Amino acid sequence: MNRFYAIGLLALFAIIATSANAASVNVCEGVSDNIFIADVTNCSNYYYCNNGQAIAQQCRDSLYFNAASQSCVATSSGCLTCDKDVLNSTALIKTCNKYVLCFAGTPVLQQCADNLQYNPNLRACDLPRNVDCAADRCSIYQDPQNIVYVPSVSACNKYFICMNGLPQNQSCVSGLYFSSDCNCCDLPANVNCTISKSSSRSVSLQTAAMIAPRMVDIKCPIEGINFLAHRNPNQYFMCVNGKGALMTCAASLYFDKEVGACRRLEDIQKKH
Ligand SMILES: *[C@@H]1O[C@H](CO)[C@@H](O)[C@H](O)[C@H]1NC(C)=O
Ligand SMILES: *[C@@H]1O[C@H](CO)[C@@H](O)[C@H](O)[C@H]1NC(C)=O
Ligand SMILES: *[C@@H]1O[C@H](CO)[C@@H](O)[C@H](O)[C@H]1NC(C)=O
Ligand SMILES: *[C@@H]1O[C@H](CO)[C@@H](O)[C@H](O)[C@H]1NC(C)=O
Repeated sequence: MNRFYAIGLLALFAIIATSANAASVNVCEGVSDNIFIADVTNCSNYYYCNNGQAIAQQCRDSLYFNAASQSCVATSSGCLTCDKDVLNSTALIKTCNKYVLCFAGTPVLQQCADNLQYNPNLRACDLPRNVDCAADRCSIYQDPQNIVYVPSVSACNKYFICMNGLPQNQSCVSGLYFSSDCNCCDLPANVNCTISKSSSRSVSLQTAAMIAPRMVDIKCPIEGINFLAHRNPNQYFMCVNGKGALMTCAASLYFDKEVGACRRLEDIQKKH
């Protein structure tokens, strides 16, 4: 009897994977210079991104950081508030692959694995071609002499131009692809674009694939952030300080308990 109990316990612990410390997410990783990112734990504070490094800053005079305007303002309406009874996630503004999970009143910073991007419609990490986010590449403090071009990740003929800190979508004329070499549209033979022709997922499939996360009553470690595997390979349990939630990966992604994130099957199989 005792032996079976021990084996059962062992099996339970085997499927628990403790995440890397959430505080270890570098909010400026992959973010262009001169972009400001909210400190989700305190709206008086924010980070200045330089060379991929996050430099802590404070708003003066009791102002609040507003990520949308990239400035400190008098009103706190742009501050993140995590409701106690709500499980919800929202993009970390001016990043493409980071998001804040509001978990029983606690903001938990999360990062998509690989080069996946956070899809605000699904409220989950998704294939970049379904999101095509370039917000992390456009600073409001841009050298007016140097136009910033950002290639699209959804189609070879699309790209963005940064204007006033926001990416404006552009398309090449028929048949041409955008080239980062010349920041211009060129013949496909001259452009190294590896985006497959298959178009992005239809909106109806996106909606069908979306299952909102919900709180569940499971045995969770009392402290920290932990992930538990689920019998469905595209779902997982997440525990934050003793409370559990059932999470679902976007269509065609699977939970990797080693990494504690949803990933493409081929990325999970690549052992690192
Ligand atoms: C937020 O940060 C400011 C400046 O660092 C500090 O004075 C304030 O006490 C902090 N607020 C909370 C709620 O921690
Ligand atoms: C989740 O957050 C978004 C904004 O981040 C909000 O529009 C939505 O109403 C929230 N959902 C719930 C159930 O609170
Ligand atoms: C730019 O985005 C808007 C809104 O998503 C879309 O309607 C429009 O077709 C896009 N333009 C180009 C050139 O891709
Ligand atoms: C395209 O990119 C791949 C991988 O980066 C590289 O191996 C290949 O030589 C490139 N081809 C051209 C035509 O630049």
